[in-house]
Amino acid sequence: MAYNLLKGKRGIIFGALDENSIAWKVAEKAYEEGARFVLTNAPVAMRMGEINKLAEKTGSEVIPADATSLEDLENLIDKSMEILGGKLDFVLHSIGMSVNVRKNRPYTDLRYDWLTKGWDVSAVSFHKLMQLLYNKEAMNEWGSIVAYTYIAAQRVFPDYNDMADNKAYLESIARNFGYWFGKKFKVRVNTISQSPTPTTAGKGVKSFEIFLDYADKMSPLGNATAEDCADYTITLFSDLTRKVTMQNLYHDGGFSTTGVSQDIMEIFTKQSEEK
Ligand SMILES: NC(=O)c1ccc[n+]([C@@H]2O[C@H](COP(=O)([O-])OP(=O)(O)OC[C@H]3O[C@@H](n4cnc5c(N)ncnc54)[C@H](O)[C@@H]3O)[C@@H](O)[C@H]2O)c1
Repeated sequence: MAYNLLKGKRGIIFGALDENSIAWKVAEKAYEEGARFVLTNAPVAMRMGEINKLAEKTGSEVIPADATSLEDLENLIDKSMEILGGKLDFVLHSIGMSVNVRKNRPYTDLRYDWLTKGWDVSAVSFHKLMQLLYNKEAMNEWGSIVAYTYIAAQRVFPDYNDMADNKAYLESIARNFGYWFGKKFKVRVNTISQSPTPTTAGKGVKSFEIFLDYADKMSPLGNATAEDCADYTITLFSDLTRKVTMQNLYHDGGFSTTGVSQDIMEIFTKQSEEK
């Protein structure tokens, strides 16, 4: 059901790789809610060609940009304002990648060139993006910038590896830039801390399916899906959340505040009965 929440709003959506991507669902919903936007992803991700289907469906243009390249980001922002005919109301940073995770390198034996690459893609890119938006005065007043994160930034999830540190850094950037963006432009900046979600990035984490099940059983409302996350993101882009800023917002069915659930206790009770 659509509510016209983003009628007349313009934005940029990063990170729609395929139809499982959280950003893909956001683009579909933003379109339904009346927004116009530019889609972007890393040039290598374009090779799959999937994003063109989304562009067609949502009447959007696609501009490739490596989120670590200031030149690409500058071109993206300038062209997006040209195409959309004005400043931006919302920007979604839905980007994450760790080379150490991809190559199964343990946290106790990281390669630092890979760490630096993953940190740049997953965290510093958010600063680069906001610095350009800020200096170009590219955001409208009461605009909204959102990035996605994971609770491994606060609590230890061993297989999340160096992505945990990247997410902690990303959340810190959101708080700090949120201050400057709020003061000067009345723009809000938040991170959404999402449940584990079966996407390309999610499935890259070791034993992901088991972990997905664990998180689901730990959360009173069950895991939040990519669609749920897109709905929440739309509210943050809408005018209904104008004073929410510099927050890390848990969107996880209650996982983050649950110590243990009865579902998990049942599994251990069965185990001890079988002994
Ligand atoms: N899937 C999960 O379990 C989960 C949970 C919490 C948070 N998140 C976060 O959600 C966000 C979106 O991930 P997703 O789960 O939809 O997976 P996804 O794999 O569909 O999206 C990740 C995106 O990052 C893009 N990307 C990688 N390097 C890039 C670069 N240099 N420049 C521009 N784009 C680049 C990829 O092309 C891809 O589109 C990420 O920040 C991820 O960490 C995911």
